Amino acid sequence: MTIMGVRKEAKLKEVFAEDFLIGAAVNPKTIISQKELLAYHFNSITAENEMKFESLHPAEDTYTFELADQLVDFARSNDMSMRGHTLLWHNQTPDWVFEDKDGKATDRETLLERMKAHIDTVVGRYKNDIYAWDVVNEVIEDEGEVLLRKSKWLDIIGPDFIAKAFEYAHEADPKALLFYNDYNESHPLKRDKIVKLLKSLLDQGVPIHGVGLQAHWNLYDPSLDDIRSAIEKYASLGLKLHFTELDVSLFRFDDKRTDLIAPPEDLLEMQAERYGAMFKLMKEYQSDITSVTFWGAADDYTWLDDFPVRGRKNWPFLFDELHQPKAAFKRLVE
Ligand code: GLA
Repeated sequence: MTIMGVRKEAKLKEVFAEDFLIGAAVNPKTIISQKELLAYHFNSITAENEMKFESLHPAEDTYTFELADQLVDFARSNDMSMRGHTLLWHNQTPDWVFEDKDGKATDRETLLERMKAHIDTVVGRYKNDIYAWDVVNEVIEDEGEVLLRKSKWLDIIGPDFIAKAFEYAHEADPKALLFYNDYNESHPLKRDKIVKLLKSLLDQGVPIHGVGLQAHWNLYDPSLDDIRSAIEKYASLGLKLHFTELDVSLFRFDDKRTDLIAPPEDLLEMQAERYGAMFKLMKEYQSDITSVTFWGAADDYTWLDDFPVRGRKNWPFLFDELHQPKAAFKRLVE
């Protein structure tokens, strides 16, 4: 274990100070268990779950801010920036939002009012602490021609629910930078659909300032060429780019292997190569990319330990289970 104060490696936030913020997703446990690592290397955080609709607003007249506030306090006391995640999503949103008192689908006007009340309250509360929000998360359909994923927001309000969310967020905090955030963002088919959505929002004059590339990647996919094209297409819209949920799984998405109890050297070496090449590419576009956030900080805690293969451990980050630099970290600071 690292003892406070004996860490000697270069600080990520200093290595990339001229390029972009270096962030980590955190939760009330990791701000304690990873406190020293976070404070040393990172200058930005995102709440892993604590600012999602179901966490903050479990019933129409109940808001629960305790856990989110703890994370905001952590950012403040460590001089970190904070991204807000996320105002509108098809997941982790309670049923009451979409239902009337008999449990039937509510109407467009009511749902818009609820959306506005939620956004006003949440964005308003964190006005002085959160400089950028993921306003809308994951509305693009992954495959095929269909643009928007089926969701209750879409069913009840219609496609302008997206524009409305941005407008409400802008009214609640005119200074906040507002992002659309999605995964598989570098796959050409989905990328082009995301671009189509972003263009139409910009054409309508919707207040949107950036695109969040989640970047849940692995050793093999997406290719560097696809990442480069995605960066160029999004940046050509005049939007700022944030990498919002970066991790590099050791497994292909459809790989179901469960035999590893420790990460093999050859895979760690491939991971180092991959991180090295990715950050080199990101640095080329540092005038468009203003923040790179990992979806965690070190291999002792990652959502990938359970996804998509339940119970399988993964090792997606720059720091190992004891918070020590891995080969991938060394490649970035060389
Ligand atoms: C999506 C969401 C995140 C998180 C991850 C899985 O990418 O945007 O908030 O839930 O899935 O952890």
